[in-house]
Amino acid sequence: MNYIGSKLKLSDFLNKSIRQTVGDISDTTFCDIFAGTGIVGRHFKSATKKIIANDIEYYSYVLNRNYIGNTGYFDVSLLIDELNELTGVDGFIYRHYSLGGHRERQYFSNENAQRIDAIRQAIERWREEERIDEDQYFFLLASLIESADKVANTASVYGAYLKHLKRSAQKPFVLTSADFDSRGEGHEIYQEDANNLISRISGDILYMDPPYNQRQYGANYHLLNTIARYDTFVPQGKTGLREYVRSDYCKKATVKESFEALVKKANFKYIFLSYNNEGLMQSEDVKKIMKRYGRYDLATTRYRRFKADRDENRQHKASQTTEYLHILEK
Ligand SMILES: C[S@@+](CC[C@H](N)C(=O)[O-])C[C@H]1O[C@@H](n2cnc3c(N)ncnc32)[C@H](O)[C@@H]1O
Repeated sequence: MNYIGSKLKLSDFLNKSIRQTVGDISDTTFCDIFAGTGIVGRHFKSATKKIIANDIEYYSYVLNRNYIGNTGYFDVSLLIDELNELTGVDGFIYRHYSLGGHRERQYFSNENAQRIDAIRQAIERWREEERIDEDQYFFLLASLIESADKVANTASVYGAYLKHLKRSAQKPFVLTSADFDSRGEGHEIYQEDANNLISRISGDILYMDPPYNQRQYGANYHLLNTIARYDTFVPQGKTGLREYVRSDYCKKATVKESFEALVKKANFKYIFLSYNNEGLMQSEDVKKIMKRYGRYDLATTRYRRFKADRDENRQHKASQTTEYLHILEK
C-alpha cells in the first residue's frame, strides 16, 4: 500500500541500525507502537521473539491483526475463490463512493464498488454463521483492504478522488490473499492511542514512527476505515468523510508534550524514533527530550521520497529528505 510515511523502503536502514545498537535481537520483544501498514513489525516478526503492534486506526488494526497476529497455517484459497466469484451488489460503497450512487464521488468504478460490497457483506455473514474464525475473518478483511486500495481512483490518499477513472481503477477488482509470515506466537495487537497503551506494555525494543506533520491519517484513509468497519453513517461533504480521530502527533501545540510523555512512561530498554527533517518537531527538540531519559544516539540516511500530485494520474515528484533514527538507551 502506498502509505504516508511507510517504512517499506527504509527497512534495511532500520534493521541495520537497530541490530547495531541492540546486538542479538532473537530473544527480544519488539513493539511497533505506530504500526500503520505493519511493514516494520512484519520485517521483525521472524527475527524477534514477540511483536506488539498498535495503531489508533481500525484499518491498521485489521492489517496488523492479520500480518502480525496471525500465525500457523490455514488454507483459505477456496474462500478467496468463492469471494472472487460473487456477483456485485448495490451496497454502501457503491451508493456513496462510486458514480452509480449519483453522488459524484468516484473513488471506485461502479463494478468494483459493487464487488467490494458483495465481498464485504459475505465476510461478515460468514463470521456470523461461524463459517470462519477470527483469524480467517481478519485475514479476509486485510485481503479486501489491500485489494480495494489497488483499484482506488485516487492519486494516493483518500482525501480526494480523481475526476476520471485512472487506468488501475478501471481494472476489474480481484481479491488477492494478504499472506502473512506464520512464525512465532503470542503476538499482541492493539488499536489504542499510543500514550494510553504505553503504561500497560513492556519489552526490549520500542519503535516509534508517529505522524510527522498535520496530515491526519483518519481523514486521509477514511475509506479504508469505512470498508473495514462497514457501519452505517452519513458520509459528509464532497469526499464522503466520516468522523475521525485527531492525533496529538499531528498538532504543533501538542506533539512535543505527547512525545515526552510517551518516552517517559516507556518500560523498554531501547527506544527508536523515526522522524524526518520536515517534521513538526525539530531534531534538536527530540534530542533534548530523549537525553533526559538515558544515553542518546542518532543514525541518519538520505531518502528519495515520491510525492503524489493531488489531481494528476500518479505523476510523482521526487524529493530528497533526511530520515533520522533517534536512539535512546533508557
Ligand atoms: C508514519 S505512520 C506509520 C507508518 C508505518 N511505520 C508503516 O511503515 O506503515 C504513523 C501512524 O501513526 C498512527 N497514529 C497517529 N496518532 C497515533 C496515536 N496517538 N497512537 C497510535 N497511533 C497513532 C497513524 O494512524 C499512522 O498509521
